[in-house]
Amino acid sequence: MSDRDARNRLNDLDARAWTYALRSVISTAYPTRGPGSFAHHLRRKHPSPKPPQLMAELIRFFTRRDGHILDLFAGVGGTLIASTLEGRTAVGIDLSPEYAAIYHAVCAELRITPQPYLVADARHLLDLPEVRERPFDLILTDPPYAAMMARPKTGERKKRGRADPTPFTASPADLGNLPYHEFIAELSAIIATSLHTLRPGGYVVLFAKDFQPTPDHHNMLHADLVIALRQIAGLEYRGYQIWHDQSQNLYPFGYPYAFVANQMHQFILIFRWLGPSGS
Ligand SMILES: C[S@@+](CC[C@H](N)C(=O)[O-])C[C@H]1O[C@@H](n2cnc3c(N)ncnc32)[C@H](O)[C@@H]1O
Repeated sequence: MSDRDARNRLNDLDARAWTYALRSVISTAYPTRGPGSFAHHLRRKHPSPKPPQLMAELIRFFTRRDGHILDLFAGVGGTLIASTLEGRTAVGIDLSPEYAAIYHAVCAELRITPQPYLVADARHLLDLPEVRERPFDLILTDPPYAAMMARPKTGERKKRGRADPTPFTASPADLGNLPYHEFIAELSAIIATSLHTLRPGGYVVLFAKDFQPTPDHHNMLHADLVIALRQIAGLEYRGYQIWHDQSQNLYPFGYPYAFVANQMHQFILIFRWLGPSGS
């Protein structure tokens, strides 16, 4: 920390820590029990909680201490918990009062002060006073993947007689319930709006998980999102990192007939906001 280059205005890392943070694959195995799990036993009630340790690593790269972070789809608070652990402030938005309640229970168990958590539709983020209060340094978010929860797990065949997996929420406002192309359009509109709250030079970092290809679509959500978000003036695509989640099981999909990929990774898409003038 003390060896930080005086020209480095992005984060508090020295050259060695900066280099490590740039590895193309972040492969993680975090405990799901005990104090190191950050109350995973509560957070796992959400279908897709992000490990606070992973979010903390991104926060350390994309902000300095005292940085201010926005999560547009906060869920049970992976980003918010990490922000607190890293001495940053944050604001989270999510449609679901249930996920908000779980986040508050997690904070009580961890004995940390909750960050402001707004139960609201991210499409109306500029109506929220807490969001307009002061510019954010980073937008770090994990959107509901297009109709993800309405499908069997990647590569898994739908089992006969089994009920459909539960969506994040039953709300028609839940982006996760939208068809693929509508999801991309709605998410792009939310990201474009959120840029009004981000300081120029700040980053937008978002997670994306692909689906299995079908005969009529490649289903590379991460690539389609990059194509869509690059249309936003002043938003520069900087590249991606892969999160390899070692807690995902390896399945014998397709055996013994044909290749079907396991997807034990997600893409972390990184964009920089150059400001309205795009300079
Ligand atoms: C992939 S999850 C985020 C999980 C989160 N990273 C965590 O650690 O728990 C996506 C979240 O988006 C929320 N969501 C879906 N549509 C929304 C909308 N229009 N506005 C706000 N939140 C929404 C869902 O309720 C869900 O919790």
